[in-house]
Amino acid sequence: MTSFAYKDGEMHAEGVALKAIAQQVGTPFYCYSAEALRAAFGEFAGGMKGLNASLCYALKANSNLAVIKLFGDLGAGADIVSVGEMQRALAAGIPARRIVYSGVGKKAGELAAALQAGVGQINVESSAELETLNAVAGQLGVKADITIRVNPDIDAGTHEKITTGRKENKFGIDLDLARDAFAKAGKLANLRVVGIAMHIGSQLTTLDPYRAAIVRVRDLIQQLRADGHRIDRFDIGGGLGIVYADEQPPSIADFIQVVGKETAGLGCELTFEPGRRLVGEAGVLVSEVILVKPGVSKTFVIVDAAMNDLIRPTLYEAWHDILPVRQPRPDAATIRCDIVGPICESGDYLAQNRDLPALSAGELIMVRSAGAYGAVMASSYNSRPLAPEVMVDGMRFAVTRPRPTIEEMISAERLPPWMGN
Ligand code: LLP
Repeated sequence: MTSFAYKDGEMHAEGVALKAIAQQVGTPFYCYSAEALRAAFGEFAGGMKGLNASLCYALKANSNLAVIKLFGDLGAGADIVSVGEMQRALAAGIPARRIVYSGVGKKAGELAAALQAGVGQINVESSAELETLNAVAGQLGVKADITIRVNPDIDAGTHEKITTGRKENKFGIDLDLARDAFAKAGKLANLRVVGIAMHIGSQLTTLDPYRAAIVRVRDLIQQLRADGHRIDRFDIGGGLGIVYADEQPPSIADFIQVVGKETAGLGCELTFEPGRRLVGEAGVLVSEVILVKPGVSKTFVIVDAAMNDLIRPTLYEAWHDILPVRQPRPDAATIRCDIVGPICESGDYLAQNRDLPALSAGELIMVRSAGAYGAVMASSYNSRPLAPEVMVDGMRFAVTRPRPTIEEMISAERLPPWMGN
């Protein structure tokens, strides 16, 4: 990824020095490269040429409006899991018919909002949801286009908290129960079954689990067609991994080629729902060193980004590469350190036991591959304002979500009337 690189001794996002953004915006902040976002999208679009396929960007990975609009302008649809995400997709100009609504626990009100907006496809994940959706569609006098998400019981080989396609995970309907679910859906007057969906996990670094899952779903599709169902669409889900450390994930072209090959002859329109692969490597988190605290066993580098800004290290033991923003000399000695935030929890770290060139107070660091599941998973724990998000495009940059002031945060709250003012 060349969108983030040292130039004249300073880390740049495309043509903009991160230091210059830090001076204007303050730290910590997320920074996204438009060029890198477009490049990742372009790889998908190129790979999908000649296939009957569409791309619905999984907003959950990064739902910054500017990011959604960038993809929407390039022709992406959206994969959403809440009405909030739906409103973001619509606000960014993505037409409702290009929106796919996934999720294991949609409420009746949410389903109604989606149908009223004209969402193109609802991926149903349970028998109970079929009934709720049928009732809601009936009340609104519409017919809902649905797929049923199945659980192919495949081990995606990823972290236990982000694997989704195994029997013991809450997602989708077991393959063994799928025919019954389709039969039920076929009888419900306000539903129109248009296809089948799966999503087996996230951060997959080999294609074998996709192959194995598709083989299972393929067999099911044949059975379902024999049962008289129309299976015109096959939603493959997302999940393609990125580089955090030394992973070697498949290329986007190889991924699409394998999916195309395994689904060839089915006559289904394919849907891809990538999230992480489109945005992960296109974003970084920039933070300033507050102080360095040498300990007996190791040195703590205390920075102004914390677990509330990027929770992946502590939640998933995720490894994110960290680089000084000022280019270290090639012969610079390294020290072993933990990069930690100021939050009052031992789990508040961005990296542990890392060998980094000696850092001092006031220096900037950059956490790589933070474009996916970074800002979207942030919280204001310890009353820390959400880190702002910045987009760079060539020599320009813009704050796409400003840092809230503490006053704004507090003014969103209300005291109970009995407490007086
Ligand atoms: N489609 C569905 C139905 C999903 O559940 C997901 C992700 C995606 C698409 C997009 O998957 P991706 O291409 O981004 O792997 N917070 C975790 C990842 C959770 C993924 C949840 N589902 C992390 O930080 O690693």
